[in-house]
Amino acid sequence: MNQNNMLQNKQVLITAGPTKEAIDPVRFISNHSSGKMGYAIAESFLQRGARVTLVSGPVCIELNHPRLQLVQVQSATDMYLACCRFFEETAIAVFAAAVADYRPEKIATHKIKKDEDIFNIRMVRNIDIAGEFGKIKTRHQLSIGFALETNDEITHAIGKLNRKNFDMVVLNSTNDAQAGFGYDTNKITLIRPDFSQTTFALKTKKEVAEDIVDAVTDNWLEKEKRLLEESVFDYETMYR
Ligand code: CTP
Repeated sequence: MNQNNMLQNKQVLITAGPTKEAIDPVRFISNHSSGKMGYAIAESFLQRGARVTLVSGPVCIELNHPRLQLVQVQSATDMYLACCRFFEETAIAVFAAAVADYRPEKIATHKIKKDEDIFNIRMVRNIDIAGEFGKIKTRHQLSIGFALETNDEITHAIGKLNRKNFDMVVLNSTNDAQAGFGYDTNKITLIRPDFSQTTFALKTKKEVAEDIVDAVTDNWLEKEKRLLEESVFDYETMYR
């Protein structure tokens, strides 16, 4: 099989966009993620023949494709539960969503009235979706994560790579002009578990998605080679 059809019919799970954490029936806490990067990655995988399940927070992007299964969610908890349905059959998982780290402890059933001068919301930690799947990932699955950092970028990204058991982390820095939330362009550095790094120029998100999917394809080939070598080794030791 050549590199171009390596991803043919592979099951890919992608999280994208922001999550919305409800405060009351009319208010929520969220972030500026547009979902553009995650959707561009989904498109690149689809163009290479993969089957994509896109678990998406609320975004203003339309993507249709016969091999695309779109699952729309609101909160981090919804996103996690949706991913749970698909993770086992997933070959490659890309965690591109900007998941809210906290949610209000209680969602008020009625619209909160402005009775107080100072108003506190008690927040509780959301589940770390990528982190949870990092714990149960098998040797046959790849997981790719993102790290958006403002400072000590490489150190923080390597921390996430290790903590969440990623096979590759895509680092964005808020210090790079025209990159990140809302822009149509992005500038990334790919970091692998052997700490090798590749920094790319500022490109359109579509081009960045191609670079990421190229790197994932290489990663997949390396993994297949490693598994094959291990099985040959097992076979040899068994019959020695
Ligand atoms: N992520 C996730 N679930 C969360 C938080 C993050 O799946 N609850 C994923 C993101 O999709 C991304 C990676 O983990 O692939 C890193 O996300 P980021 O927000 O940069 O890191 P956090 O773990 O939230 O750490 P911090 O906010 O402290 O930098």
